Amino acid sequence: MRRPEKQDAQSLWKLVCADETLDRNSCYLYLLQTTEFSDSCVVAELGGEIVGCATGFRPPKRPRSLFVWQILVAPNARGKKLAKRMLSYLVRHGGGVQFVEATITPSNAASRGLFASLASQLGAAIEYSPCFEASDFGASGHEAEELVRVGPISPKE
Ligand SMILES: CC(C)(COP(=O)(O)OP(=O)(O)OC[C@H]1O[C@@H](n2cnc3c(N)ncnc32)[C@H](O)[C@@H]1OP(=O)(O)O)[C@@H](O)C(=O)NCCC(=O)NCCS
Repeated sequence: MRRPEKQDAQSLWKLVCADETLDRNSCYLYLLQTTEFSDSCVVAELGGEIVGCATGFRPPKRPRSLFVWQILVAPNARGKKLAKRMLSYLVRHGGGVQFVEATITPSNAASRGLFASLASQLGAAIEYSPCFEASDFGASGHEAEELVRVGPISPKE
């Protein structure tokens, strides 16, 4: 586990583009995340290869929260607790993260399982609330996104 650097942006972009679940963004976004937002991002390496990433930011309106933008583990590295370890890393090295937030589509069982497991590990509550309706995405056919919020997280964690 380590913070990403600018040289990792293309690897992150390719990892996300190869996944069918996540929204695609431009390489430019990953350049920003690995430079301006690197303090709220993490990559997981196995054998010198990046096999997972969690990108996030601290919402200016809720500075005690860490908002996870995207989290992804390569298919051949799933089921090894890498995603949960990346979120734990972000909490541990976040300098006072009290809540972990993300938006999740109702059909993403893996993501729901992941955040439930994180809440349980941290001994924290988990709450879901409506965030973006399908109609907010226009005619793109995108599913609704619910806001998931884990916390408050005890400082000792
Ligand atoms: C979601 C994802 C990141 C999980 O990665 P992972 O490294 O395999 O997850 P972990 O091994 O850390 O598992 C953490 C918890 O999530 C649960 N989980 C993982 N995959 C699951 C699935 N398909 N269904 C239900 N629960 C699941 C695990 O059971 C585990 O809980 P436990 O610790 O209580 O046993 C991975 O499946 C992925 O990259 N999916 C595609 C991208 C995506 O949907 N990202 C999330 C939206 S941004």
